[in-house]
Amino acid sequence: MSSNSPDERSLVLIKPDAVRRGLVGEVLSRFERKGLRIDAMVHRTMDAALADAHYAEHVDKAFYPPLKDFMTGGPLVALVLSGDQVIDVVRGLVGATDGRRAAAGTIRGDLSLSNRENLVHASDSTDSAKREIGLWFPELG
Ligand code: CMP
Repeated sequence: MSSNSPDERSLVLIKPDAVRRGLVGEVLSRFERKGLRIDAMVHRTMDAALADAHYAEHVDKAFYPPLKDFMTGGPLVALVLSGDQVIDVVRGLVGATDGRRAAAGTIRGDLSLSNRENLVHASDSTDSAKREIGLWFPELG
């Protein structure tokens, strides 16, 4: 993206494990200190229908039923971040899916020891960001 392009947006979920562990501030501060902007934020519990829509590409996978239980099992914080190349920048800050393998210095690498309870979800492409923002913050569409 050129420096003249409008900033991208990414949909981020600070997952129920992070809320339960009192890590919302820690996670948010990493995004803020990087220079990203918070365009929208809500504290909410995901219901089954939203879980199935949000994770549409995973609903047939073996790991989906426990993932759904985990993601709907307590409140999370959903937010929209914006900034230059925010999708790639956020994924770099978050780290690899499996917290046991994620690099030190990343959120998951520093704070998660799980493949499922990995603290944060972040959009993986501009198409998924658009779709996910539409699900969580339709008013931003
Ligand atoms: P997320 O970025 O939210 O996208 C899909 C989620 O499924 C992922 O983070 C993990 O929480 C979970 N996940 C992905 N792969 C596995 C797996 N092999 N076992 C358990 N959970 C997984």
